[in-house]
Amino acid sequence: PRIAIIVVAAGSGTRLGATAPKAFVGIDRHTVLRHALEGVFAAPSAQVIVVAPAGREGDALTELLAASGDRRDLASVVVGGATRQESVAAGLAAVWPDVEFVLVHDAARALTPPDVFGRVLDALADGVPAVVPTLPVVDTLKQVSGSDVVAAVDRSQLAAAQTPQGFARVVIDSAYAVADREYTDDAALVAAAGRAVAIVPGDTRSFKITTPDDLDRARALVAPSTA
Ligand code: C5P
Repeated sequence: PRIAIIVVAAGSGTRLGATAPKAFVGIDRHTVLRHALEGVFAAPSAQVIVVAPAGREGDALTELLAASGDRRDLASVVVGGATRQESVAAGLAAVWPDVEFVLVHDAARALTPPDVFGRVLDALADGVPAVVPTLPVVDTLKQVSGSDVVAAVDRSQLAAAQTPQGFARVVIDSAYAVADREYTDDAALVAAAGRAVAIVPGDTRSFKITTPDDLDRARALVAPSTA
């Protein structure tokens, strides 16, 4: 395939307070990872690489086989690292030679709609080197120092970044090759290497499951409607 989707699922999920790593926590009868993979396999045919916590490769493979259907030959599991950036690097090392576009997606954004993958892939097909789905910031933001407000922040100049983030393969490979510190996300790492990053509309359903409240929200969204 021309596309690879790296699903990073190697985080511990400490802030969720669950006993299992976050990717293996149940939303309903399916885990966070399984839900994320349903979205991934709704996208056009792609190599799919799940980056799993050490020791949970078998569980990740079980989820991958359940979600991949007749595309299981395109799917594989690799072990992640201590940081998200190390986990992405492990995924990049497993991308097949013929791949031209790489998407990096947080398993924790388990309910990301297929449309978002479509918008990211369309932008890459149009020739942008890097693209991030974003949402406008709704809160009024303040720059603070200690217990004081230092300045107002113009939120019209800000956007909240989500995943999947998409890259021309050469762009993300070369940016990772020169990265000499931790960046907050792949778009920041690629921007630091001097590449322009475009935006496409994200989706509120792409929120990252981080806290117990987020898990409750995800459970409410997947619960069968009683209406
Ligand atoms: O910790 P946070 O929720 O921001 O992590 C975002 C995504 O990165 C999650 O899907 C998580 O599993 C993944 N991750 C990873 N390896 C790490 C840390 C986080 O794959 N060492």
